[in-house]
Amino acid sequence: MRTEYCGHVNESHLDQEVELCGWVHNRRDHGGVIFIDLRDREGVLQVVFDPDTRESFATAERVRGEYILQIKGRVRRRPEGTINPDLPTGQVEVLGHRLTVLSAAETPPFVVDDELDVNEDTRLRYRYVDLRRPHMQRQMMLRSRVTRNMRNFLDDNGFLDIETPVLTRSTPEGARDYLVPSRTHSGEFFALPQSPQLFKQLLMMSGMDRYYQVARCFRDEDLRADRQPEFTQLDIELSFVDEDGIMNLMESMIRQLFTQELEVALHAPFPRMSYHEAISRYGIDRPDLRIALELVDLGDVMQQVEFKVFAQPAKDPNGRVAALRLPKGCELTRKEIDEYTRFVGVYGAKGLAYIKVNDWAKGREGLQSPILKFLPDEVVNAIMERTGAQDGDLIFFGADSAHVVNEALGALRVKLGHDRGLVEHGWRPVWIVDFPMFDKDQRSGRLNALHHPFTAPQVEAVAELESNAESCLSRAYDLVLNGTEVGGGSIRIHTPEMQASVFKLLGIDEEESREKFGFLLDALKYGCPPHGGIAFGVDRLVMLMSGASSIRDVIAFPKTQTAACPLTSAPSPVVDTQLRDLGIRLRPKVSA
Ligand code: AMO
Ligand code: AMP
Repeated sequence: MRTEYCGHVNESHLDQEVELCGWVHNRRDHGGVIFIDLRDREGVLQVVFDPDTRESFATAERVRGEYILQIKGRVRRRPEGTINPDLPTGQVEVLGHRLTVLSAAETPPFVVDDELDVNEDTRLRYRYVDLRRPHMQRQMMLRSRVTRNMRNFLDDNGFLDIETPVLTRSTPEGARDYLVPSRTHSGEFFALPQSPQLFKQLLMMSGMDRYYQVARCFRDEDLRADRQPEFTQLDIELSFVDEDGIMNLMESMIRQLFTQELEVALHAPFPRMSYHEAISRYGIDRPDLRIALELVDLGDVMQQVEFKVFAQPAKDPNGRVAALRLPKGCELTRKEIDEYTRFVGVYGAKGLAYIKVNDWAKGREGLQSPILKFLPDEVVNAIMERTGAQDGDLIFFGADSAHVVNEALGALRVKLGHDRGLVEHGWRPVWIVDFPMFDKDQRSGRLNALHHPFTAPQVEAVAELESNAESCLSRAYDLVLNGTEVGGGSIRIHTPEMQASVFKLLGIDEEESREKFGFLLDALKYGCPPHGGIAFGVDRLVMLMSGASSIRDVIAFPKTQTAACPLTSAPSPVVDTQLRDLGIRLRPKVSA
């Protein structure tokens, strides 16, 4: 039906007969001649009909936007003055002499145009129209190239593409499971995988040596711009490797991807930073290194001040007092500072003290601050020295539990970076390493796995882990790019004793661990190579590479913020017989 894509026709086709298929992007009737911009996946091409071809001209007169046409015609150079240098096909046009309407179309709910600002719910409801927009088509094409590129790299490096089940048991990655009732085992449920974690480890125990999969994962958790209930991982596992082996290989993959798809040479090797350093300097374990602002600790100098707001957390081992210097921050108005105070409030901060450095040569007189009166000279001097504040700067303060200060100042740092134009251009990948094995729930006192319960500790012996569990570090690593966690993985536990010990530390008793993970503990007994792996968030990676602000823009059919699909109206009620087959009776939802 077609000899060329519309978007591919150029001067090399001059005087050739072409057959095109596409959508009517735009139709203009210039009294006597009709111009149709015909659009397909590859671009837009101008087609002209004049009254000499009577039948086609008559058809062209009645076609409307989004009709799908087949056109035969001859490529010619556009007349002088009508050349469009912004369009790849802008030097040429096609003089149409045959036109067939393949499909008529009603007026779509919104115009297929990149410039149009349409509300997202409408876009998702009519996603098949939204996806026609050239921008969305480019996003999908980039996504396809990204997975192909990484698959090629892994194929070249001896990885096997192996599929793992979607109807399975719970794989804990810290979210709620999506459950699927079993008809053949009444009252029992499958869980959709939060990741293929356990299967890929079992594949290493099966001797597959190197595995990958472009795998769909399901997590019932609160959604954000970079989180979807179902999303795609590039999931990877290797045997007989250590952290360096994996990180180096994965870096090469990401570097090749960026070179080949974006023509960007990423810095080699990627820097590495400990979890501890990331939290202390940036308040967060996924620092955006494009922003130069940093948190500075002041706990030691604040212990003796009269201002309780600062002194108390300074003395508390779980507290933190930190400063964040904003260059030229004196420009901030009272109103702006109030807005930032509200912003940190969302993270639990009870206030946002600040000092404006107007003229430090004048000493205290040159400073302006609601808290200056509470701070003795030596503390003021220490603040000025540690933050390196210059005239014109503003210093923000956070004082609370370390958790609140890190969250609040960490988020403020990023917001200030964007608001004040302090985000450098380019790509700043960083590996975060040396994570703690566990974090402790302050209320229940229980330990939680910081990654997942299959991550190996940095110690060899079970006794050593058990005597130092809270301070023990893990063999996990995350890849962070411009403030987004794009991948995470670890070296795994490969002995049944260590695995049992970690379950025990997590408060999973023997009976429960047998019931939930008996198959893993058994498999470990039958011989397990040292192994490790990583999973990349494909959606997040493509989001960053395409400059999109949400992963919804790089997923063909995403869910809304409430985890629903406006296109198919999923989830939906089911008929009573289906429930009966499954042995399920619904009961009214009790609100939480
Ligand atoms: P993790 O839970 O860190 O690790 O997930 C790996 C990567 O997947 C992406 N990701 C998500 N993307 C979109 N929506 C979500 N809800 C979502 N959750 C995670 C992130 C993240 O870095 N089994 C381990 C990997 C391993 O240890 O090998 C795992 O799933 O980019
Ligand atoms: P107050 O004494 O509560 O009026 O607070 C004096 C200044 O300290 C104000 O600028 C508050 O925004 C700020 N402040 C109060 N609590 C905190 C806190 N926990 N961390 C940082 N600044 C705070």
